[in-house]
Amino acid sequence: MNGLLKFITCGSVDDGKSTLIGHMLYDAKLLFTDQERALELDSRIGSRGGELDYSLLLDGLMAEREQGITIDVAYRYFTTERRSFIVADTPGHEEYTRNMAVGASFADLAVILVDASRGILVQTRRHARICALMGIRSFCFAVNKTDLIHYNELEYRKIEKEIRKLAVDLELSDVTVIPVSATEGDNITGKSENMRWYQGQTLLEYLETVNVETDTGEAGFVMPVQRVCRPDHTFRGFQGQVASGQLSAGQTVTVLPSGEKAEVQTILLADREVQAVRKGNPVTVRLNREIDVSRGCVLVRDAELKVSNMFTASVLWMDDAELVQGKNFLIRVGTRILPATVMRIKYKVSIHSGERLEASRLHKNEIAVCDIVTAEEMVYDSFAKNRELGCFILIDRVSNMTSGCGVIRHSLRRSENIVWQKLDITRGIRAAKMNQKPVTLWFTGLSGSGKSALANEIEKILSVAGHYTMLLDGDNVRMGLNSNLGFEEQDRIENIRRIAEVAKLMNDAGLIVLTSFISPFRSDRERARMIIGEGNFIEIYVSTPLEECEKRDVKGLYKKARNGEIPNFTGISSPYEAPQHAEICVDTSTLSLDDAVKYVFAEIQRFCQLKGGQENVEYHS
Ligand code: ADX
Repeated sequence: MNGLLKFITCGSVDDGKSTLIGHMLYDAKLLFTDQERALELDSRIGSRGGELDYSLLLDGLMAEREQGITIDVAYRYFTTERRSFIVADTPGHEEYTRNMAVGASFADLAVILVDASRGILVQTRRHARICALMGIRSFCFAVNKTDLIHYNELEYRKIEKEIRKLAVDLELSDVTVIPVSATEGDNITGKSENMRWYQGQTLLEYLETVNVETDTGEAGFVMPVQRVCRPDHTFRGFQGQVASGQLSAGQTVTVLPSGEKAEVQTILLADREVQAVRKGNPVTVRLNREIDVSRGCVLVRDAELKVSNMFTASVLWMDDAELVQGKNFLIRVGTRILPATVMRIKYKVSIHSGERLEASRLHKNEIAVCDIVTAEEMVYDSFAKNRELGCFILIDRVSNMTSGCGVIRHSLRRSENIVWQKLDITRGIRAAKMNQKPVTLWFTGLSGSGKSALANEIEKILSVAGHYTMLLDGDNVRMGLNSNLGFEEQDRIENIRRIAEVAKLMNDAGLIVLTSFISPFRSDRERARMIIGEGNFIEIYVSTPLEECEKRDVKGLYKKARNGEIPNFTGISSPYEAPQHAEICVDTSTLSLDDAVKYVFAEIQRFCQLKGGQENVEYHS
């Protein structure tokens, strides 16, 4: 018996996907008697005037029947004498692209339906492109409804030619085209009497015999670590599924990204000790010495994977909100999840023509080639070489939803050619000379909330007490370093990224940094926290309500914004996402500046002991 085949069916709404699979199950006698009876009964009220309507078999969900469309990814399992199958039946509508991508990501093969009476449609191209993007390498185009073209060979050959051209455009190498009629049963399980000119396999024959195994057996051993198992102090094993190759006890493995080597002491397959394991096995590996291995590390042998923090990828965007350059996410590659930024959208790819289009933002269901940078070095490979470590999802840091998915094309050479230079004078040495712990006090809040006034007063206290400080203020920095940035989402993201990097450098120099920026987006502040370092970052939310800020309107900007003279004004025409876990929160509408300063300073003291405050300095605001 051939191995399990996981495939996906795609097609436009009326192409007859469900009918096709339904007919195959029926012909192959894979139905239970009661299902067959139910089918006959249902068909009397179905859309085929009493004839068996095979689609009813699959369109199990009520909503589907009512709307006549497939609305979710439905997985079906069936077995013939020669093979077992799992098929993902996915919706054809454009708004369900996300479901299709999910279905495709699990499949080894795609059956793409083409309506013989309509030829290749925009949808057909889109589906094929998404399947290719999600890593499917074997494609079967089932040219359906050949009964409607009177089983005419010439008509069929025209469509076949179009399909071959599409295959070239998409660089698909393994493509089979089969003329079928799902309703009449031609070339589904038995050879069609109506199309004697077709010499190839029937659809079922093809599915039963197709070889989708691309692994030649020469690939080296790769196992992403899913879990470190430590039931007691005597045992420490690394668990995961072997992604490629094989491994035997006694062999040497390398742990990536660290590059440390160790010998394999024992291997467990489930709870049984074995001498060797291979691709697909869920295993526990014990090494002969203690080395640092955690979830997301990868054990390899004779396999060349990339270890870097920058790569170029094809991304399918699935979020309702647009993707703009500079936006940051959590990325999941293999078993590793870490922060990442879409640094640059290089170009968009037209789903219809494959043409490259210039773009600085992506809408839902669009595909683009982007440069992505991750917060730390990670282990990956190009998707062409390694399906598991070559694809990823992007997770929204605030909603935790999957916003996009993609495949890695290649690493960015510049990341490989840049090596961190170790310096002898460290941050610790610099800080010790200044006799202080460098931290960043990150003030966030609406324009006019009192951030700058507060930061200014706090800096004075610190300075008088003998601290070395630097205050970075929104308006000021926008006159110099960030003078090329405006107030659109992607500019604000870049504004905050630069400030975070500068604050970190200044902390490295030993300074205590105060920043005063609206910094309206939660994910940007989270990234700033990550860049600067959790223990060095104190978020101070100046929560003065919008009405109060607008009443103050110190710079007259709210008035202008209300009059439509300033676009994207925070609080008016651009959102402010309030912090949920700020270390300090202060509302300057209920406190005098003096009291607010005292309160904030006392709170800062709780997080890091700084010199200053009422007890030991003379302080006049
Ligand atoms: S941020 O959103 O990117 O963090 P930042 O703090 O640097 O903004 O700059 C905010 C200052 O720019 C405000 O205090 C205000 O003086 C000025 N400004 C000009 N246009 C806008 C705008 N559209 N939205 C908010 N602030 C603006």
